[in-house]
Amino acid sequence: MTDPTPYAPRPVVIDTDPGIDDLLALELALKSPELDVRGISVSYGNTVVENAYRNAVEILRRVGRRITIGVGARRPLRRELVVARETHGETGLGYATVPPAGVILDFVKPLERLLADQPAPVTLVTLGPLTSLALALRREPAVVHEKVARHVAMAGNLEARGNTTPYAEFNAWCDPEALDAVLRAELPTELVGLDVTRQLVLSGHDVNRIGRVAEPHAQWVYEALRFYVAFHRRAENLDGCVVNDVLPIAALVLPDVLDFTEVRLAVDLDDGDTRGRTRIDPEGAPARVATRVRPAPVRRLLFDRVLPWTQTPATTAVS
Ligand code: BDR
Ligand code: CA
Repeated sequence: MTDPTPYAPRPVVIDTDPGIDDLLALELALKSPELDVRGISVSYGNTVVENAYRNAVEILRRVGRRITIGVGARRPLRRELVVARETHGETGLGYATVPPAGVILDFVKPLERLLADQPAPVTLVTLGPLTSLALALRREPAVVHEKVARHVAMAGNLEARGNTTPYAEFNAWCDPEALDAVLRAELPTELVGLDVTRQLVLSGHDVNRIGRVAEPHAQWVYEALRFYVAFHRRAENLDGCVVNDVLPIAALVLPDVLDFTEVRLAVDLDDGDTRGRTRIDPEGAPARVATRVRPAPVRRLLFDRVLPWTQTPATTAVS
């Protein structure tokens, strides 16, 4: 029998704070034969870490996969813990029903142990605050440098307006010191931030069509998405929702959808308005930043693999 995937899937470890767009991103990764998801590490961010863990377990259960889940950061390095209840709901997954969260036992693996267990270097994708990775770098820098061949982060913004303050993107804002430490570690890191993710939008119409599908998983995803749409309507008068975290995963499957620019980047570490702002600075750390996106193939991939119940033409306006 011929192998349907005539190449080795890319080994990937994902650090995430699920989160409604994280949910879609995780499902896309798990349903993409090009990727071998070797481990998931959860952290605080959109919700507290206990909910994030429960959500990751529930997502895996619903897609029928068993994958090692580690537990990364419970709070930022130095800042107060702030979560995004208004954006992702009390549980982190909007109105989708989930089991109660439990306590997390201390012997669950942190990110650096997940990485140490990998037989070969992986692509690390971070979809939440950078704290888990900063802690891993602090505790086991050699392991992280040996096992992370490439780091792709949904974080930051250059030209685009922030989504947490006018200047800052949420993952960068939550723990700017962690992002700063990660950039300085020169893994190397690629930022897929709001400049490109803001163009990846599911419209209210897209989401309503999912809501009309009787299939139980469609209904579960719809219950998460309709909360996210209501938030975007309130917060920015958008009829739809920006599914940021899908893009870094999609770009591993379809590398041509993003254009990157090599820059030197600094993160603002002040306490004021510009906390967490990422900006070009000749004294900053080298990084690649995604500056252009072709959203249509990403939408097609997302609908084919994660939201297959409705067929949306790839040419539908996306923002
Ligand atoms: C990021 O913050 C969270 O709301 C999303 O899950 C995404 O990772 C976007 O700024
Ligand atoms: Ca996220």
